[in-house]
Amino acid sequence: MNRPEPKNPPRTFHVKSFGCQMNVYDGERMAEMLGAQGMTAAEDGANADMVVLNTCHIREKAVDKVYSDIGRLRREDGTRPMIAVAGCVAQAEGSEITRRTKMVDIVVGPQAYHRLPELVEKATRGEEALDTDMPAASKFGALPGRSRQARPTAFLTVQEGCDKFCTYCVVPYTRGAEISRPWDAVLDEAKALVDGGAREITLLGQNVNAWGDGERGLHDLIIALDRLDGLARIRYTTSHPNDMTDGLIAAHRDVEKLMPYLHLPVQSGSDPILKAMNRSHTRDSYLRLLDKVRAVRPDIALSGDFIVGFPGETDADFEATLSLVREVGYAYAFSFKYSPRPGTPAADMDGQIAAHVMDERLQRLQARIIADQLAFNQATVGKSCAVLIEKPGRKPGQLVGKSPWLQSVHVVAEGAKIGDMIEVEIVSAGPNSLAGELMRRKAA
Ligand code: 5AD
Ligand code: SF4
Repeated sequence: MNRPEPKNPPRTFHVKSFGCQMNVYDGERMAEMLGAQGMTAAEDGANADMVVLNTCHIREKAVDKVYSDIGRLRREDGTRPMIAVAGCVAQAEGSEITRRTKMVDIVVGPQAYHRLPELVEKATRGEEALDTDMPAASKFGALPGRSRQARPTAFLTVQEGCDKFCTYCVVPYTRGAEISRPWDAVLDEAKALVDGGAREITLLGQNVNAWGDGERGLHDLIIALDRLDGLARIRYTTSHPNDMTDGLIAAHRDVEKLMPYLHLPVQSGSDPILKAMNRSHTRDSYLRLLDKVRAVRPDIALSGDFIVGFPGETDADFEATLSLVREVGYAYAFSFKYSPRPGTPAADMDGQIAAHVMDERLQRLQARIIADQLAFNQATVGKSCAVLIEKPGRKPGQLVGKSPWLQSVHVVAEGAKIGDMIEVEIVSAGPNSLAGELMRRKAA
């Protein structure tokens, strides 16, 4: 690791997170920890003494993007902040980062960021500050308690890592093996979040529905959270079809605070591709699972992730994906071009798909998805629902919140404020958001 001269200890910091919601959560925990060390959060990186780039490695160009972000931190007077690269690119690249650029002082992986204060001290002394360990003991015990959040919605990581080894995916390598946080630790954190003003908690995990502590599964946790006074809404993401237990499905019927939304990625509608992806479920088993969920919660909003252009994907395979999308009618879906990740089995498979074929498939899939999103949203016009207000809108007097089905709802609501739950009549719908009118303010 190249060593610049010692620096002044940083007094202000800025954390910038990319990628998934778990990275957002990790970024908040890092900020809380640096705050507990007496450092102050800066609005942006331009003036901060230290910048943490909390990176994502899931798809291509992630690494290049990190280097260009680092370059942009150089200031006009030739100085720069102390720079920490955290997250999944830090894990995947390790000391390669400090070989490639002299601008990085700290490299810290997603399982080691509880040691960030020590790493800052080391970097201040001009010593090597790299930690990409995946320690057996979880980082969570070493982090300070949750501080009050400005927002009414909060993320709470309950499970991390992945043992499924889908052949395209870096997560098992960057986040490590599946671990579940203990029952008490999760409930304590949930209570702290609610005490700090959270009205909605989203339980996070790369395979959140694989969460377990002894005999207890995710549905038990959801039932326990349902009893927390002050908490109004519970969500969870991301789930794997094979970990969707009957207990969790039943929770969608029985637990009032559990919102009618399920993100259940399938990736492809073609069995040979699912097999090559090592998904260990079939198109049919996935569809039957959705039938079970819809049987207990007919209004559930389903969302999914799709990859087009996986190695060997034929036109017929792609048509099978389109037909699955048509059959399900997703409320929301994310679709991506396959991106070969170094070190994953699929990167070395025969039959890599040409870029223009991927582009064309992605366009067709996205057109289908947007039409379905619009149809789902339009079906709510004329109905009323509860909206949890999250932020001010762009127009004066306008507020933006979420429906139970995770749709963004824009509403002009005199006297309402962030964190309120209001009853709204939906008056119009687009593919990505709804507009509503205030009916009445619900008892908080
Ligand atoms: N290429 C493209 N998309 C990917 N995803 C994960 N790995 C890759 C990859 N190598 C997508 C999957 C996953 C989502 C988080 O990102 O759809 O569900
Ligand atoms: Fe990106 Fe996956 Fe890491 Fe999240 S866990 S930051 S999606 S690579």
